[in-house]
Amino acid sequence: MKFFLDTANLDEIREAAQMGVLDGITTNPFLIAKEGAKFEKRIVEICEIVQGPVSAEVTSRDAEEMCRQGHALARLNPWVVVKTPTTKEGLKAARCLIKDGIKVNSTLCFSSSQALLVAKIGASYVSPFVGRLDDVSHQGMDLVREIVTIYRNYSFKTQVLAASIRHSMHVIEAAKAGADIVTMPYKVFDQLFKHPLTEKGQDRFLEDWERVKSLVT
Ligand code: G3P
Repeated sequence: MKFFLDTANLDEIREAAQMGVLDGITTNPFLIAKEGAKFEKRIVEICEIVQGPVSAEVTSRDAEEMCRQGHALARLNPWVVVKTPTTKEGLKAARCLIKDGIKVNSTLCFSSSQALLVAKIGASYVSPFVGRLDDVSHQGMDLVREIVTIYRNYSFKTQVLAASIRHSMHVIEAAKAGADIVTMPYKVFDQLFKHPLTEKGQDRFLEDWERVKSLVT
């Protein structure tokens, strides 16, 4: 399973990259604006650190404009994956980009019927939004499970990228569901390391060592 961070913060990206567990990044216009960074410049900076797929989102409702923006984003760096919305216009734009060899991440996916269409047009990634479905009293992870089943039934190549991840159990559940990738905020990534018994156990071992080390050194 691949781990992506859902962030445009360079410190967070560097930290995860240095640990050797970072496979890619997803961003959205809000995440980049939050950093106060210039959109294109920040995408390039992220690509240089990660050396893996970096999703950059188009900002239009119109297929032709999305396709134009997508081409411009793809020219920024070979690692750029263009994020298009899973709407009718978004799928038209995705098709236009894919035919020119540009990788697409179809975002804001909330149903299996949308995911089927995304796979049929040959998108590289589909992003079901787990947390936002949970927010409206649906089991967001059921969508991930259903898409994984459908894609396996037909050997679709589109990778399932579980998104809108809010806590570490979402990461575990996405892994159990067979999602190819999970993209998470840095806060969730940090939580994956933590267990009170690990910290308590380490304190205890170090205390024990202080008491006995004179016997062996
Ligand atoms: O990866 C999708 C993400 O950017 C949206 O997450 O938490 O706003 O639903 P959230």
